[in-house]
Amino acid sequence: MNRIVNNICELNELLAQFAQSIPEKLIVLLEGEPGAGKTHMVKSFVKAIARSSGIPSDQIANLVSSPTFALHQNYNIPQGANAGLEIDHWDLYRLESEDDLESSGFWDQFSRPKLTVFIEWPERLNESWLPNDIAIWKFKIEILGETQRQISMLRRHPKVTDHAEIL
Ligand SMILES: Nc1ncnc2c1ncn2[C@@H]1O[C@H](COP(=O)(O)OP(=O)(O)O)[C@@H](O)[C@H]1O
Ligand SMILES: [Mg+2]
Repeated sequence: MNRIVNNICELNELLAQFAQSIPEKLIVLLEGEPGAGKTHMVKSFVKAIARSSGIPSDQIANLVSSPTFALHQNYNIPQGANAGLEIDHWDLYRLESEDDLESSGFWDQFSRPKLTVFIEWPERLNESWLPNDIAIWKFKIEILGETQRQISMLRRHPKVTDHAEIL
């Protein structure tokens, strides 16, 4: 998939479509320069998943209002179709060593039955280390203008090593 969005609203609409059909186990990689909109995409995605689970909008705002400077954040979906889904958000920009990942539970999270793991700056990792039984959606965001972005997306299905382009 390769699409141009003219503003945040158009991006939110695009992500809402993806959020409707997330696999039970999913890793979402977000690549793009600082200010491209990676963190915005995570928040927008989480909101869309929460909305499609019937969580009221005031609670959605609470769910994603925490500061984003941490290495790791966790959001919980308590009800609806995605009840029990834990959403993890990693920003690896300041990652200094793989030991930091190990000690913060990065590798343990993948054994849960339901998961959506967002990773900003996946370039800091060796992608081949990610579990190969989990679907991976890789988004690349390019800044075209103040509010215009080019969004490309590749999906890697479980048990397949290469990213294949879809749509
Ligand atoms: N179409 C768009 N998509 C995403 N962010 C946008 C868009 N247009 C403007 N922005 C702004 O760009 C900034 C992106 O910031 P952020 O999501 O923190 O980027 P990153 O995590 O990639 O560094 C936000 O201030 C957001 O409001
Ligand atoms: Mg960010």
